Amino acid sequence: MACNCGNGGCGTDYGTPARVSEKLVTLEIDGIEVTVPEGTSLMRAAAEVGVQIPKLCATDSLEPFGSCRLCIVEVEGRRGYPASCTTLADNGLKVSTQTPKLAEIRRGIMELYISDHPLDCLTCAANGNCELQDMAGAVGLREVRYGYEGENHLKAVKDESNPYFSYDSAKCIVCNRCVRACEETQGTFALTIDGRGFESRVSPGQMENFMDSECVSCGACVQACPTATLMEKSITLHGQPEHSVITTCAYCGVGCSFKAEMKGNQVVSMAPNKDGHANHGHSCVKGRFAWGYATHSDRITTPMIRDNISDPWREVSWEEAVAYAAKRLREIQAKYGKDAVGGITSSRCTNEETYLVQKLVRAAFGNNNVDTCARVCHSPTGYGLKQTLGESAGTQTFDSVMHADVILVIGANPTDGHPVFGSQMKRRLREGARLIVVDPRAIDLVKSPHVQADYHLKLRPGTNVAVANALAHVIVTENLTDEAFVAGRCEAQAYADWKEFVARPENSPEALEAASGVPAQLVREAARLYATGGNAAIYYGLGVTEHSQGSTMVLAIANLAMATGNIGREGVGVNPLRGQNNVQGSCDMGSFPHEFPGYRHVSDDAARGLFESAWGVKLDNEPGLRIPNMFEAALDGSYKGLYVEGEDIAQSDPNTQHVTAALEAMECVVVQDLFLNETAKFAHVFLPGSSFLEKNGTFTNAERRISPVRKVMPPLAGKEDWEITQMLSNALGYPMHYSHPSEIMDEIARLTPTFHGVSYAKIEQMGSVQWPCNEEAPQGTPIMHIEEFVRGKGKFFVTRYVPTDEKVTQKFPLILTTGRILSHYNVGAQTRRTANTAWHPEDVLEIHPHDAEERGIKDGDWVGIQSRAGETVLHARITERMQPGVVYTTFHHPFSGANVITTDNSDWATNCPEYKVTAVQVMKVTQPSEWQQRYRQFSEKQQELLQQREMMKAQ
Ligand code: SF4
Ligand code: SF4
Ligand code: SF4
Ligand code: FES
Repeated sequence: MACNCGNGGCGTDYGTPARVSEKLVTLEIDGIEVTVPEGTSLMRAAAEVGVQIPKLCATDSLEPFGSCRLCIVEVEGRRGYPASCTTLADNGLKVSTQTPKLAEIRRGIMELYISDHPLDCLTCAANGNCELQDMAGAVGLREVRYGYEGENHLKAVKDESNPYFSYDSAKCIVCNRCVRACEETQGTFALTIDGRGFESRVSPGQMENFMDSECVSCGACVQACPTATLMEKSITLHGQPEHSVITTCAYCGVGCSFKAEMKGNQVVSMAPNKDGHANHGHSCVKGRFAWGYATHSDRITTPMIRDNISDPWREVSWEEAVAYAAKRLREIQAKYGKDAVGGITSSRCTNEETYLVQKLVRAAFGNNNVDTCARVCHSPTGYGLKQTLGESAGTQTFDSVMHADVILVIGANPTDGHPVFGSQMKRRLREGARLIVVDPRAIDLVKSPHVQADYHLKLRPGTNVAVANALAHVIVTENLTDEAFVAGRCEAQAYADWKEFVARPENSPEALEAASGVPAQLVREAARLYATGGNAAIYYGLGVTEHSQGSTMVLAIANLAMATGNIGREGVGVNPLRGQNNVQGSCDMGSFPHEFPGYRHVSDDAARGLFESAWGVKLDNEPGLRIPNMFEAALDGSYKGLYVEGEDIAQSDPNTQHVTAALEAMECVVVQDLFLNETAKFAHVFLPGSSFLEKNGTFTNAERRISPVRKVMPPLAGKEDWEITQMLSNALGYPMHYSHPSEIMDEIARLTPTFHGVSYAKIEQMGSVQWPCNEEAPQGTPIMHIEEFVRGKGKFFVTRYVPTDEKVTQKFPLILTTGRILSHYNVGAQTRRTANTAWHPEDVLEIHPHDAEERGIKDGDWVGIQSRAGETVLHARITERMQPGVVYTTFHHPFSGANVITTDNSDWATNCPEYKVTAVQVMKVTQPSEWQQRYRQFSEKQQELLQQREMMKAQ
């Protein structure tokens, strides 16, 4: 049987994809009896019993194509030699895979291939890992009778345009695997076979090079290529790997599983793990290729301290740095009180590391001043889903989308933000699922090859709740609710109240059209489709949460799913697409100031008592400061010390000038990170952290899947992040004595009911596991709320639409909304230090032609963007993706200062910033903004202070 553990150790290629059928068929292959699901190919049936049939154009991640004919077999009673990859297994068949005639035909086929192939095996980068080479051996080819002088493709020019892989057409056997990978796996349709017969060649787009084509550099074609035609440049550089280690991508919340292919301590390639439960062998450009930052020369690998931020850094030992940090933090507490310090955990770090940081704050600092970067992304998800359903997490697996009939995407851009899941979603859409997109921009999903949204509700930023209420209005007033589901599963009074509310005329699509900008008829049709189109699944992102009504919208989404019975089974549900790799985990681990691990309130005496007895300290029963409150308190002089692990608040948080003023007001900022990031420029202690390649631990993805992170190389600075936190805690006088992250996970499991069954042994055995994993669900919980909601009865909430205070005015007539793009990740600290900058060297301002024309702006002009918080300058890109009145930018480059413009408006319940709505004016300018000029000066000064440490070392 196919391996299912997720550890990907076996590496068997079964030739064609697995089929699911209740009907089984039994046949004989080379005398061995085998039973397989109906629809299985002969090739796969053979592989299931260990018989490997030679093949070139088939691989088990792609549908069979039947072009190379190498896989021919003989079937008793049938004429000819059918291809085993395209012939289906059937009851009673007797198949022979090795006969003298088959061997002769296969040798003949291979001979033709080899006669048009460079004979440079010994110096070829794929040597030792080339299916063509393997097949030549497998069929026993010893000589080529045709010679090598005839017509051939050996002089074809190599395409080196992509920074990560090359395309050497001379080595192509036109097996079509790359084309199919791009279509079936990735869904981009960037490749074609150009020409006919002997002239056939693989071509990106219209004979363009890869870089100029539609290619998004996901690597699926490279993975599928059986020859060295599509070749990863790092393998060409370093040679074939010697061993591999399964680990998890450290970029986004999809949590793709990879094999780190290693040569000693050198990563040679990150190959997507086909047994990975979140990605099934697929990848995107970030996880697949953008890992070079881990060994970038900008990495700081020695601890540093300084008294003031205007002083040069001084390199010191770990002991001195940690003792210095502890002393200064304790001095602050002695002088200003115990609440004058706090910490920020990171969604980039592992569960174990995050758990330790919050433990340090609560137990060693003695307060609850701990928060996390989820504050600025998905905190409303935590709040809204807990209130309505009872658990602060998405309800499904990613694979559940393959059972969805209607997909409703709200404020998310999966093909850029969660690309591997975006590809899976597109696959389902190509199979016929219907699509509704609610987004101010025409994201790629709205129209891309073979995918077209049925409805695009192009709303004005800030009006999500109005649209959700209008959808609900139609569902209720047209009697499209699932009354039986609601009656059995939800609180009756809350439902009645909600129904009465949404049915009011003020919530009709017609009444809300003026506010949202979405034609009422479109809303009506979309609502009917969502409620009656079969399994309907909602996927949403930061376009939902990063609003003043972020939490209200999450409640509204849960209301829609409950009212239509779209929750508690495959193909439906409420699915927040988490941004960073471990946002779910950092929230689970108790990173919020009001909650212990497992979302238990600090005022809950029983929960607090549990942690007090396990940790041996008295714990505070009052919630601590959230990140924005920390800034406020710093500016009013009551908050003086911060320990921040793996988050760059000076770039990622809104209203940059407010954040940097708060950092400047603090007396001790301790930054634990890989690089001297924007926050570290305001720090007094720098503790060099470790990348995901240098540590053991776990990440939890958007589907609650806990996956292993494994150390593939020693930490460059000598310590894993959890070890540094432990050192700091010990120096603060609160002892921690873990010797491995598995011990931290054991503690988490002991203290957290939803994690009771989680252990490294279980993760090792299953590959990954979805929480809740405990006595009731020892193998984890792929789909939640099946029989009943975690809170018992689901609860509806009235979600009144309240327009944001951030209004357009004559002075600020446009709305700025922000997001990210495929090639970069968040503040770009990692991806800017990779070749991904080739796709996005700077952040630009997207603006509609009408708004540009009104302002005399041409494509590529410098434009100033001014809000009431600040001003910055970017190049303009004129595009009809935008609607008039709305502009858009990303925030991947610090010099762009996107967050200089965003304001400190925030969600009413969670303080999640309103990044998605800022009133701005845009005008043509000729030079960077004042802030940018100041930023440049300050950054150059900080770089000098960093370099001076080198000089001090040299003296
Ligand atoms: S590039 Fe590779 S995968 Fe594509 S057709 Fe050529 S040999 Fe096959
Ligand atoms: S890298 Fe991905 S997008 Fe680009 S051609 Fe290959 S499969 Fe298509
Ligand atoms: S989709 Fe996300 S987790 Fe997967 S490879 Fe890309 S960045 Fe990594
Ligand atoms: S592997 Fe079956 S025809 Fe190529």
